[in-house]
Amino acid sequence: MKYKNEIDKRRTFAIISHPDAGKTTLTEKFLLFGGAIQVAGAVKSNKIKKHATSDFMEIERQRGISVATSIMSFQYEGILINLLDTPGHKDFAEDTYRTLTAVDSVILVVDSVNGVEEQTRRLMEVCRMRDTPVIVFINKLDRDGKNRFDLLEEIEKELNIHLHPMTWPINSGKDFKGVYNLHEKNLRLFTPHTKASGDDIISINNLQDKIVEEKLGEKDAAILREDVELVDGVHGALNVDDYLAGKVAPVFFGSAINNFGVKEMLDTFIRIAPPPRSRETSTRKVNVQEDKLSGFIFKIHANLDPKHRDRIAFLRVCSGKFERNKYYHHVRLDKDVRFSNPYSFMAREKSIVEDAYPGDVVGLFDTGNFKIGDTLTEGEDFFFTGIPTFSPEIFKEVVNKDPMKTKQLEKGLLQLTDEGVAQLFTQFGGNKKIIGCVGELQFEVIQYRLLHEYNASAEFRALPYYKACWITSKDPKKLEEFTRFKTNNIAEDKDGHLVYLAQSEWFLQTERTNNPDIEFHFSSEVHKEMV
Ligand code: G4P
Repeated sequence: MKYKNEIDKRRTFAIISHPDAGKTTLTEKFLLFGGAIQVAGAVKSNKIKKHATSDFMEIERQRGISVATSIMSFQYEGILINLLDTPGHKDFAEDTYRTLTAVDSVILVVDSVNGVEEQTRRLMEVCRMRDTPVIVFINKLDRDGKNRFDLLEEIEKELNIHLHPMTWPINSGKDFKGVYNLHEKNLRLFTPHTKASGDDIISINNLQDKIVEEKLGEKDAAILREDVELVDGVHGALNVDDYLAGKVAPVFFGSAINNFGVKEMLDTFIRIAPPPRSRETSTRKVNVQEDKLSGFIFKIHANLDPKHRDRIAFLRVCSGKFERNKYYHHVRLDKDVRFSNPYSFMAREKSIVEDAYPGDVVGLFDTGNFKIGDTLTEGEDFFFTGIPTFSPEIFKEVVNKDPMKTKQLEKGLLQLTDEGVAQLFTQFGGNKKIIGCVGELQFEVIQYRLLHEYNASAEFRALPYYKACWITSKDPKKLEEFTRFKTNNIAEDKDGHLVYLAQSEWFLQTERTNNPDIEFHFSSEVHKEMV
């Protein structure tokens, strides 16, 4: 229990959303509250976007897409908040999924006009796999959005989570008048670009009070009373344990760009969001309060300096204290490693840290020793579980355009896939190298980086696969038979695990039915469990 105080004051989380729902804007408001940035009157998020948050990869600057994941740490009301930024672009979803393994909770931003969108659905699936506590922020109330009851119903149904409204909006769009805080029983009136000073909060002991009419007008006062009665009747008080178990998500309404409803959420967040928690490994549960260090790599970031092929591996500390220059055990390589320049991050600003505690993320300078999922300990052998690799969605064969540079190409492919940019498979019977990605954009990134960092020229040829399934069997003979019979559809992943490449859902179902002794898995996690 040596580090209890340090652990208790930390909150490590990510903001997730479908692109354009307002994640960047909300992030910036949080940073402003935390004093981590001071951009007076920064209403337009682009201004900050261009040179602050997460644009330190050259390729990202070129494309203007948030490719990288960076970490922003700031203090708020005595709490140390580590906010892990995630790329908004769907083609980098895999990056976001991995970041979600390193956080203790998330804030999900939903656009009140568009409701639940594709990316929201997928991100929530990953959250639910780990029972991650979720707070929902319904954004853009200053626009004419969907009916709030319909919206809540849609979110509950589509994301399969119970919602618990913490605030309740009064109209939307140009008639948006503010929110009623259901728990603190006060009314906050909307004026665009509020400074969140708290001056405009009106305490209401009784919603029947005439002041409600005075502030909202008769019609809206009546609607609010009716709504609140309904909502209170259904939900009652928030059960924090249900939130912590990932069963119920508190909901806030607001407008990030106007800094409206943000402070209420942040205040609730620091009160109820979980501090770092104990985590499962391949051998036992590691208690967050243990004295000895343990942590895992969830992200590898290359190209900080395009002239050098250096990388930064992001370590999430799970127990104990991380110290600069101390030797730690790299479990996969079975070797001792130490770090003389570990970094902490504030967007592009990185500074050397002397020590770090559970919940913190440390950037470790890496010359190629790390892969996603690697674990550091003080000697014990285990891997953190729950850092799965999911099946890619697009598969392409790598075509070497310059045979003189074969070695460079191979090295580049190995290193880029170690970083988690894409997955690499080697097909049986022919040794074809296959790259699997979530989005087309990643192929462009790979091609660009192979050329600029490894001097290798590659093209990609589309392949007709739709999913990669990791295959296992209790009967090694059956597995051997299946792989022999299906050679053209069998490949090995980088760790030598067998994968079945399915052309379509129909093929997959057929193989499943015909081969009851073979198990098909949609993530590589199964192999960790077997360690
Ligand atoms: P993202 O990171 O989730 O992709 O979204 P981001 O914050 O960049 O916001 C997407 C767009 O939505 C931005 O407009 C932003 O200004 C706007 N926005 C964010 N919050 C609100 C809100 O509460 N109300 C309204 N009406 N708009 C909001 P943009 O035109 O793409 O960029 P910008 O030029 O305004 O920065």
